[in-house]
Amino acid sequence: MRRLLFLSLLFLHSSLFIQKAAGQRADYHIIPLPKEMKVDSTQVFVLRDGMGIAYDSNHAETTRIARFLQTWVSEATGIHLQLTPSDKKAPIQLVLAQPAKKGKKAKMPEEPLSEQQQEAYTITVHKSGITLSALQPVGLFRAAQTLRKSLPIRTTPNPSRQGEGLLFPYAQIQDEPRFSYRGVLLDCGRHFFPVEFIKQFLDAMALHGCNQFHWHLTEDQGWRFEVKALPRLAVEGSVREKTVIGPGNMHIYDNIPYGGYYTQDDCREIVRYAAERYINVVPEIDMPGHMMSALHVFPNLGCTGGPYPVATNWGVMRDVLCGGNPETLEFLKTVFGELCDVFPSKFIHIGGDECPKERWQKCGKCQARIQELGLTSEPKVKVDGDDGRGSQDGRSAENKLQTYLNHEIEQFLASRGRSLIGWDEILAGGLTEDAIVMSWRGTKGGIAAAKQKHRVIMSPNVYAYIDHPQLKDYSKQPRTTDSYQVSCSKIYSFEPVVPDELTAEQQENILGVQANLWTEQVAYPEHAFYQLLPRLASMSEVQWCRPDQKDFNNFKARLPQLEKLYDKLGYIYCHQVE
Ligand code: ACM
Ligand code: ZN
Repeated sequence: MRRLLFLSLLFLHSSLFIQKAAGQRADYHIIPLPKEMKVDSTQVFVLRDGMGIAYDSNHAETTRIARFLQTWVSEATGIHLQLTPSDKKAPIQLVLAQPAKKGKKAKMPEEPLSEQQQEAYTITVHKSGITLSALQPVGLFRAAQTLRKSLPIRTTPNPSRQGEGLLFPYAQIQDEPRFSYRGVLLDCGRHFFPVEFIKQFLDAMALHGCNQFHWHLTEDQGWRFEVKALPRLAVEGSVREKTVIGPGNMHIYDNIPYGGYYTQDDCREIVRYAAERYINVVPEIDMPGHMMSALHVFPNLGCTGGPYPVATNWGVMRDVLCGGNPETLEFLKTVFGELCDVFPSKFIHIGGDECPKERWQKCGKCQARIQELGLTSEPKVKVDGDDGRGSQDGRSAENKLQTYLNHEIEQFLASRGRSLIGWDEILAGGLTEDAIVMSWRGTKGGIAAAKQKHRVIMSPNVYAYIDHPQLKDYSKQPRTTDSYQVSCSKIYSFEPVVPDELTAEQQENILGVQANLWTEQVAYPEHAFYQLLPRLASMSEVQWCRPDQKDFNNFKARLPQLEKLYDKLGYIYCHQVE
């Protein structure tokens, strides 16, 4: 708080100073707020058209980052910088620094950098220019984004100011994210979003410092991932014959067929585009529930044999993959095998949520497999969320059968060098050895998993579900999942390591935080951006900032500058912040 006051005074001071100097002035009202920042507003470096950006042109990544920075400066301000590789005198320097050398006597092996340290960077604004420095290219990319967000946005070209420079107060900024996993989910199952839109979404994520794109690729309402060994799966499973209108309880349909899927080439294109922005793509194939689209194509994989339509309404479906049919595992291994071929991510999401067990309880194959595996029901333990949702019936034999499937997939993924993530329902039948839990029904699942020494990603619906309304007055916004409000301030208030519940050691198991954009009610790119922004700004401070840095009023005061950039980029966003 004291630091914020100090910074505010500096900003005030610098705004007095600016009246003496010509040109628009950069400031450091950045979201997410950097970890440390010292600003001397009494002195400025003036950035002018035609100045150079120096970088190591033998290094492809640094070259790309220099180009990004050049584009961003020109887009925001109209100032065109030259790319001047290896020019030691260029005012803007991108420097890949060497790690500090320890004394010769130090015999200890060098500690590997943590993932957060790999993303760390420094920006120094001084007499002769601006130096961006980091140990890894990803750090340089983050630094370039921070510099981008410091720029004054030129909203209208003003010929009389064309020759003016941009004034950068002297500054020393040091930054490093709090969490290594900083995700956003986009549900492309309920509605399909074109590749070009996914790229815009990734750009917006990168602007906010996010590094994990959780791509929800399959749903009851549509299978969106091409599996070459099963060509009918995406072709037929991606199309539903109609879509329910509104929340769904009126059972009124539009009677318009709806479909779309991503070819493996599309997916590779997205992986490449994301990687250039230091975003990993975490693909999700949701199993064994949320599988109506696959059951439609392969009814033999369901307990009843079908027929099954690709779902046309929302909710949790009773029909799921049969847990006792050996063909189910064969199918899953084919799908996850191709998924691993296409997505290099170390994390693969297997879903696991909302899988009712009523079909399994009555299915001969499921019950035979339960017998064969010797699975027995234990007294009911409620494993539901702290949001009043969820109704898992604890350690039932059927939930253990789901754990058995998870175990098989975990082994399969491990043989490809990958780790499994599942929604918190995977706790119900007992966690598999290496499972990472994504806690969505509140934080209880995450807390339980962290206590069991499992890695956790927090994504509790009451704080992180951005399909929910952001404003209290529902009439002021497009229709969304209409239950509770998930406002910017609600998101901002989330403390992911729940210190009241977890010891310091257990808190280390919390890898990070994720915002989820489900799309039952979100069919168009513009609406998706409205749901995303500016709530992603709020989430980005949960992902990057330490608790003592966070102050919602201060965040709100910094937001207008970011919104000017949203405007410049043509982003649709909610203009009111609650
Ligand atoms: C979920 O929202 N069903 C993970
Ligand atoms: Zn079955």
